[in-house]
Amino acid sequence: MNIIVTGGAGFIGANFVYYELEKHPEDRIICLDALTYAGNLETLEEAMKNPNFRFVKGDIADRDFVYNLFKEEHPDIVVNFAAESHVDRSIENPEIFLKTNIMGTQVLMDACRKYGIKRYHQVSTDEVYGDLPLDRPDLFFTEETPIHTSSPYSSSKAGADLLVLAYYRTFKLPVSITRCSNNYGPYHFPEKLIPLMISRALADEPLPVYGKGENVRDWLYVKDHCSAIDLVMRKGRVGEVYNVGGHNERTNLEVVKTILAQLGKPESLITYVTDRPGHDMRYAIDPTKIHTELGWLPETKFDDGIKATIEWYLENESWWKNILSGDYQNYFQKMYVDKGRA
Ligand code: NAD
Ligand code: TYD
Repeated sequence: MNIIVTGGAGFIGANFVYYELEKHPEDRIICLDALTYAGNLETLEEAMKNPNFRFVKGDIADRDFVYNLFKEEHPDIVVNFAAESHVDRSIENPEIFLKTNIMGTQVLMDACRKYGIKRYHQVSTDEVYGDLPLDRPDLFFTEETPIHTSSPYSSSKAGADLLVLAYYRTFKLPVSITRCSNNYGPYHFPEKLIPLMISRALADEPLPVYGKGENVRDWLYVKDHCSAIDLVMRKGRVGEVYNVGGHNERTNLEVVKTILAQLGKPESLITYVTDRPGHDMRYAIDPTKIHTELGWLPETKFDDGIKATIEWYLENESWWKNILSGDYQNYFQKMYVDKGRA
């Protein structure tokens, strides 16, 4: 099969590219990525050596470009990871979130209609459900929980989800959606909580915890997310939404203290800073549907996953130091443009 993976130079998309190349070596992966600040081609260096992998630089919202790619590649499956993904950036500048996350999704689905595909899979987030109160640990997000968003980021993802379901109902496009909780693991961009805290703790810099650090996130090791998407896009029912999460709730403060303890750094590095506006209190996924229908279960416990993640950041300092210094943004120029490959 030919599979277009959009956003494959980002955190989860890149992990997914490697997951697919290993699990389904018979399939061909075409990664379409605009290489925004969050896309890092260095991450895909190993994948580029695989003859079943192709990287294409382009914007999912660029209709002509996307149509040409579909015409050339005839994808069987399209998995859409490409998005603006950081809540804090969406508070600073919502517009690009609407353009990429909603309009980009529309363009991809129009291309799927025009050229025909077996499955369009939308990678979504539990943030479309809004948040849960801290004093009701009995409550979880199910697929029936109403959409009720808080940030421009989650609103743009919810808008895209609604459009995906509309394309199923109206045009019979064979779609599926996964809504996953917070991921962590290798190649996570160091603006997000876990990699930010690891990189700052290693440099003995203050760790900025928003508000009181009481907000709860349901953490899932990225490989477990990849296995869930792989199952849903191949075997999940068309037109359905599947929640993905592993009952791994932690307060932000617990996460930060775990990182400090693992690195042997003092808790005095923790600095409480002004809270994020509209900050969601708690996310918690009920993954019953994907478990009962498709047999999916997460394999990595938080204690093991966070240890593996910290080890990865220790062993791959140059990857995140290149990002912090901005050097990774010259990589495409150096490896592609300067060599006449793009
Ligand atoms: P990321 O920000 O690390 O990567 C996004 C990738 O998309 C980058 O490579 C970027 O260059 C690319 N991109 C952005 N705009 C583009 C455009 N217009 N055209 C083509 N490519 C473009 O994001 P991530 O954390 O890997 O998240 C991937 C997907 O998973 C997103 O859709 C996000 O909403 C969803 N998600 C993320 C999490 C999480 O915890 N990170 C949890 C649930 C769902
Ligand atoms: P983040 O990684 O941005 O993911 P999301 O907002 O999509 O859940 O943040 C995770 C949690 O960590 C969230 O409650 C905000 C908090 N946070 C901090 O306390 N300090 C920080 O510097 C960042 C980036 C996040």
